[in-house]
Amino acid sequence: MTKIINVNIKKNSYKIIIGSNIIDDIDSLHKKYFGHRAKIVIFDKKLSKSIYLKSLVTKLGKETKCISVPSGEKSKSLNSLNNLYNKLFSNNIDRSTVIYTLGGGVIGDLSGFAAATYMRGIDYVQVPTTLLSQIDSSVGGKTAINSAYGKNLIGAFYQPKLVLIDINTLNSLPKKQMLSGYAEMVKYGLINDVNFFSWLEKNGESILKKDKKALEYAIAICCKAKSKIVAQDEKEKGIRALLNLGHTFGHAFEKISNFKYFTHGEAVSVGIMLAFKFSNELKCCHINDVNRVSMHFKKISLPTHITDLFQKNIKSKDVIKAMKLDKKTVDNIIKLILVKGIGKAFIYDTVEERKLNIFFKNNGFI
Ligand code: GLY
Repeated sequence: MTKIINVNIKKNSYKIIIGSNIIDDIDSLHKKYFGHRAKIVIFDKKLSKSIYLKSLVTKLGKETKCISVPSGEKSKSLNSLNNLYNKLFSNNIDRSTVIYTLGGGVIGDLSGFAAATYMRGIDYVQVPTTLLSQIDSSVGGKTAINSAYGKNLIGAFYQPKLVLIDINTLNSLPKKQMLSGYAEMVKYGLINDVNFFSWLEKNGESILKKDKKALEYAIAICCKAKSKIVAQDEKEKGIRALLNLGHTFGHAFEKISNFKYFTHGEAVSVGIMLAFKFSNELKCCHINDVNRVSMHFKKISLPTHITDLFQKNIKSKDVIKAMKLDKKTVDNIIKLILVKGIGKAFIYDTVEERKLNIFFKNNGFI
């Protein structure tokens, strides 16, 4: 069964369509939303031989142009962006063309930013193929590349015209990538939906085994939760920051590791545990909630401790330095998303560096 979720943003509303075999219907969806407009597909190179790319291009029509982008976080760079612009220009792409992005978060973020800026903006459709991009990065219009100073620091809020989530694309997704997306899925329960967290405690393994019914249900819950937040706060002036639970820590770890060794979800998983532990330290959150989240992560094989990510010692001062480059930082004061319990996240904007430093030293950093 297909599920449709509306993202209601004043002038930029759009639909998220979720189901199996969505790509098979792409020709009729294109006609319905864009008539006879030309299309171009930007895809992750590792999908070159995939049935999804073949099917997408065949259905969109043989005349559909395609651009491949190398896999991996390295593609979220100024260099790759420039290559992409050049390919769009050399293919004579104008504003009447619709870009389809096929791949995970890297391809969606990079292509979305190219769409936001190419000829001052052209329409794009997200066709996410990883669990992480299906429940998070393809929805809400955050587009970005990385800077030498940190992750996603150059970008724009630019909403897609449509998000097409074909659950069948997860069939070939490796377990590590499923787990990475799963950490983001848990995040939605921890922010404001304790019932969803309880559901995941019972059904998390079905998600990781790619049970279609469980996936369709959980992906729709996450997309609805995200749409609701984005509709209220498109440009992250307030509550959208809650979606960053675990990310201020996680992005710092990714930056320090140079995006090697662990996935985004693994970094976020440890980040979420630190947010819960720090909340407990500040007497906001009961230890039982900290233990409940930790037990779930361990059961599902997500990391919970900094030593699960890094084999070398990580310096507290290096993490704090990287955290200060977070986009939420104002006047050099780090903002964190903390919790009053499971499903009760809040923005904490008076983080004391001294306390954070002591906290890190008590939690495996040097
Ligand atoms: N990934 C967090 C957000 O879109 O706001």
